[in-house]
Amino acid sequence: MTDNQIFEPAVLAGIKLKNRIIRSATHEGLADGNGIPTEALKIKYLQLAKGEVGAIITGYAGIRQNGKSPNYQMLMMDTEDYIPFYRDIVDAVHEHGTPIIQQLAHCGRQTRSKVTGEKPVAPSAIRDKMFLEEVPKELSDHEIRDIINNFIDAIDRSKKAGFDGVQLHIAHGYLLAQFLSPYSNRRKDQWGGSMENRYRIIDEIFQGARKRVGSFPILVKMNAYDGRKNGMRIDEAVHIAGLLEKSGCAAIEVSCGTIEDGFYASRGEKAPVDAVLEYSYLFRELNPVIKFMARPLVRFMLRSDPKPIYNYNVAAAQQIKERVSIPVIVVGGIKSLEDIADIIGTQKTDFVSMCRPFIIEPNLVKKFKEGTRKESRCIHCNYCSIAQEAQSLRCYYGKIK
Ligand SMILES: Cc1cc2nc3c(=O)[nH]c(=O)nc-3n(C[C@H](O)[C@H](O)[C@H](O)COP(=O)(O)O)c2cc1C
Repeated sequence: MTDNQIFEPAVLAGIKLKNRIIRSATHEGLADGNGIPTEALKIKYLQLAKGEVGAIITGYAGIRQNGKSPNYQMLMMDTEDYIPFYRDIVDAVHEHGTPIIQQLAHCGRQTRSKVTGEKPVAPSAIRDKMFLEEVPKELSDHEIRDIINNFIDAIDRSKKAGFDGVQLHIAHGYLLAQFLSPYSNRRKDQWGGSMENRYRIIDEIFQGARKRVGSFPILVKMNAYDGRKNGMRIDEAVHIAGLLEKSGCAAIEVSCGTIEDGFYASRGEKAPVDAVLEYSYLFRELNPVIKFMARPLVRFMLRSDPKPIYNYNVAAAQQIKERVSIPVIVVGGIKSLEDIADIIGTQKTDFVSMCRPFIIEPNLVKKFKEGTRKESRCIHCNYCSIAQEAQSLRCYYGKIK
């Protein structure tokens, strides 16, 4: 495939995209205190749309208060009242001919009780080693059914707000990923044990949503592997991809890792120790001397150093593509036009998506297209990733400022 073909319009799940390069979901921290999208978020999306991105996937939006993110100012989609605010943004983005897909999530145990007002919930009562919260509450059958309904309601709201589709976040160790992975799901009832049981919650969301929203596109972002002992492995992920297709999933974006793994999903050369001390809720309030003394501890907490740091999900996504006939998108360490041309041109996947490259350059696709940039300027310092806990999204370029 030539560069020009990458930039030709393409269809994803019935949605017409400007090209094959997608903005992957990126928490922007630009909701107000209630989770309503702000004017600043609209401006951010318009920068991406004017920068000729193929489609925008929004930062994750919460479907229920007890699944709210601990990150700064998360979007919420848990009430009908928010529909007009989203509608305003969607309409503005559509004026540029850019599709916009809303990502929906429940954080499960990857949150803090201070944010949600209650103990975190999870498929099983297993403590998360990164969040260091109390042991989460194991969800009852009744509570699982409530959450399924919350997802279905949120999907319906996204449709009413005019989004082109939704993406269920079933990756990175959030609630639906917690159900999928045998590492975090030790249940013995119909929601745990066999793969079909661990997958059941997702299938029920699809089945319920179909009755409410008809053929409205429902995509997923899933882990091909999560790096956890006894966790998600690629062979299981391939099987789950088949189940997703059967459930009516419109497209699969392939990622990896959990928050517990640190920077497994968003990899970099070096652990962002300075950023953790400056922005992370565990350290930011400490006085400078204690912060200095805490440095070795932070280094130890961030010790996992996954490799490679570029294009790390491509091989797994390719395996998933071989198993399904729905479109496959790959994300993770993609930054050069040459690599994109190879991934798409040799049909390893149908689309590629990026997150960090669009934080530093929202108009990267336009630059690629015009030939003024061959590779993203992102240095994968991951300061943006840590600072999400404290403030709105921006590029730090490896410096505390
Ligand atoms: C600041 C930041 C915010 C993110 N927010 C989300 C999110 O809301 N939903 C999601 O699925 N992934 C989120 N991610 C993960 C990215 O979408 C992506 O999977 C990961 O960063 C690897 O892609 P990249 O190498 O292109 O950055 C976020 C990553 C970063 C750095």
